[in-house]
Amino acid sequence: TTIYVPCDTTARSLGADAVAARLTRAAERLGVAIQLKRNGSRGLFWLEPLVEVETAAGRVAYGPVAPTDVDALVEAGLFEGRQEHALALGDIEAHPYLARQQRLTFSRIGITDPLSLEDYTARQGFAGLQHALALAPQDIVEEVKTSGLRGRGGAAFPTGIKWQTVHDTPAAQKYIVCNADEGDSGTFADRLVMECDPFMLIEGMTIAGLAVGATQGYIYLRSEYPLAHAMLDEAIARAEAAGYLGENILDSGQAFHLEVRLGAGAYICGEETSLLESLEGKRGLVRAKPPLPAIEGLFGQPTVVNNVLSLAAVPFILDQGGQAYADYGMGRSRGTLALQLAGNVERGGLVELAFGTTLRELMESFGGGTRSGRPLKAVQVGGPLGAYLPQSQWDSPIDYEGFAAFGGVVGHGGVVMFDDSVDMGDQARFAMEFCSVESCGKCTPCRIGAVRGVEVIDRIRAGERAEENLALLSDLCDTMVDGSLCAMGGMTPFPVQSVMKHFPDDLTPRQAEGG
Ligand code: NAI
Ligand code: SF4
Repeated sequence: TTIYVPCDTTARSLGADAVAARLTRAAERLGVAIQLKRNGSRGLFWLEPLVEVETAAGRVAYGPVAPTDVDALVEAGLFEGRQEHALALGDIEAHPYLARQQRLTFSRIGITDPLSLEDYTARQGFAGLQHALALAPQDIVEEVKTSGLRGRGGAAFPTGIKWQTVHDTPAAQKYIVCNADEGDSGTFADRLVMECDPFMLIEGMTIAGLAVGATQGYIYLRSEYPLAHAMLDEAIARAEAAGYLGENILDSGQAFHLEVRLGAGAYICGEETSLLESLEGKRGLVRAKPPLPAIEGLFGQPTVVNNVLSLAAVPFILDQGGQAYADYGMGRSRGTLALQLAGNVERGGLVELAFGTTLRELMESFGGGTRSGRPLKAVQVGGPLGAYLPQSQWDSPIDYEGFAAFGGVVGHGGVVMFDDSVDMGDQARFAMEFCSVESCGKCTPCRIGAVRGVEVIDRIRAGERAEENLALLSDLCDTMVDGSLCAMGGMTPFPVQSVMKHFPDDLTPRQAEGG
């Protein structure tokens, strides 16, 4: 019997290693021959550790399995896939949370052993690369343009057009840089890709290299992801040994080399130009644009800087065709988005869906409402620089233009839920405080504005000339939006302004404690 126990950070932090050890011991004790495979997580985090058993009728699951549940589960027939225990979940692929998703990018995740090339190639792995090797570079770029893929890091710039710019800029050396500095609150989709399907990112970057004529790639990874680092290093070594990466990819005469570089904990190094500074060994200070990185990027050379999820979408597009990807979605938002449900949520996890679904559908029918059981009050989409959305905005379909129309941000797809015990005044203050800590210091509206923002909010809450200070806060927000050099200072006002607009009662003087 093959038994699967996930090996990603979430499952392991919830005890998956101990569960695996107990399952092995139980099998030895009973003399049952099992093959224990460490798969990635399917992203149904409230069910982790999720143990699966291969049966004639497919994979059946049990979860969440605590190490102390293992003996009782084995006694109730886990090794035979019997579904008699209270933790039995049946056919996991039929679970509504999974069955209702459109998994194009996350199609293998949770199913395969992340480091098995055999598993990867058995499920379309490297089919996109094989196709790309048979195409002219311009045709690869066209395929990505046809797909309508837009930057999944948050800014939603059309990936094909970015690649075209790099393709068209002559240089002796070009680079592909993957932004894996996933820093937004509540986000984990990049991590899941790297820990659970690292070959997909390697394949996407290699195809990008072929498309624009770059022979060197770097993955800029946040140091807070040690497991992703280990997985990527091992996957790169295996891909190289098997000829999918290196000097002569699959005997095509084309080369692509790949290395991982670690960040050092600064949020601003997720901004592409400070990321490039950091990659060059300098302090992570934002560069003025232009020049665009696509023209003068790493070491002054034309550089594609793409988020993990943008690059991870590419193998599907080259394998199935750009049109197959574009068939999903709505308006100018094509394909699927990896939504990440977090915060005060009953069923947190990864939900890959075509654009066009609503937040309410996501938070209620996937997320199951709040974990606390209290009513939902607000949701922050798109990281710490995204607006807080009130109930009246939860029924709008999720797409880039639709969200922008009411001041919302889709961003990297992080969805952080809050119940009615949240103090939105505290959240507004947090946005300014976060910016004051993480600002790179290059421009004044952000460096000084964020510090003043915290002070002004404190004065409002202390009841000092509240009306005057609210007007001042509003002016300060406008100045930061208009005058900041990058999105850090330019977007910090979004959550603050959304609190002023939709939750004004929380920005009134605090009631005296204990009175
Ligand atoms: P941007 O709009 O300035 O640029 C988007 C991308 O398009 C950049 O890579 C830029 O170089 C490129 N570009 C623009 N014009 C181009 C052209 N003509 N040819 C080729 N490339 C071109 O946005 P920015 O400042 O890079 O990103 C801001 C976004 O980052 C925000 O919307 C926010 O949602 C997101 N964000 C994501 C985080 C995460 O952890 N994933 C964290 C913080 C912010
Ligand atoms: Fe640096 Fe903030 Fe200015 Fe961005 S907005 S360049 S983070 S000081």
